Amino acid sequence: MRLAVLVTAAWAALLSLALTGCGTGGYTSAGSQGAGKKLFITACGGCHTLADAGTAGTIGPNLDDAFAQAREAGMTSATFTQVVANQIRFPITATSTGAPGMPAADTTLPSCDDVEGDAFCVDDQDQAVSDVAVYVGAVAGTGVTAEKQTDGKSIFTTTCGGCHTLADAGTAGTVGPNLDGAKPSKELVVDRVTNGKGVMPPFGASLDAAQIQAVADYVSSTAGK
Ligand code: HEC
Ligand code: HEC
Repeated sequence: MRLAVLVTAAWAALLSLALTGCGTGGYTSAGSQGAGKKLFITACGGCHTLADAGTAGTIGPNLDDAFAQAREAGMTSATFTQVVANQIRFPITATSTGAPGMPAADTTLPSCDDVEGDAFCVDDQDQAVSDVAVYVGAVAGTGVTAEKQTDGKSIFTTTCGGCHTLADAGTAGTVGPNLDGAKPSKELVVDRVTNGKGVMPPFGASLDAAQIQAVADYVSSTAGK
């Protein structure tokens, strides 16, 4: 249902662009999948599961599930790309359930003109939206199964880095505490990852016990170093 609404919105946006002849930012054919994958892991993966990217976020919908059915029904990657680009540019921020929706592009892909310090940002926001949209459009719902990650650093980068800064992993998320500053014990990492707290979702269903131990070993041994 939701996808149908989004697809309709995508075509409406395309149509209005065509009608007004105002062509800035509407088309996304010129995106780079490679750049898009990296951006997705940093900017989106903390909230969305996508097998190809190896991300396991659970705050937003699983994007493989969201697109699989429509892909089976014959919808093409180009259409998905447009749907994703519109969701990033015009996210549904107020949901029918009252749950927080998806943040705007200035939060998910902030422009470096607006960001101080070394927090995550992009030089060209339009290009970044295109890159992510082309990437997600190409891979979501294709039936790729995630290769199970066992290495703590990879698990951290794909699952946690979108929300947490950790110098060793090169991540710069700011939703949760900076872990170099927090220097959590292994026990605390295991507890938070298993049970979540506040805005941090639990990962006890998406990561198995060995993966949780691996990411906890990694974080507790590298944070603040
Ligand atoms: C802070 C969490 C968060 C981040 C970061 C985030 N999203 Fe979302 N996203 C959500 C939520 C929540 C929804 C569901 C909104 C709703 O209920 O309508 C959503 C919905 C979507 C949908 C629609 C899926 C469907 O089934 O309707 C797409 C596509 C999407 N997001 C892509 C992205 C991309 C690409 C990025 C990175 C640029 C991103 N999201 C970043 C939380 C997030
Ligand atoms: C959607 C964003 C988000 C994701 C994804 C996320 N966290 Fe968190 N995390 C938070 C927030 C917010 C808090 C603060 C919770 C509170 O105390 O209310 C937090 C707290 C923590 C803490 C406790 C820090 C302290 O000193 O209190 C640890 C440790 C932690 N997270 C590790 C992780 C690990 C490891 C992962 C990946 C498996 C992860 N987080 C994924 C948002 C996130």
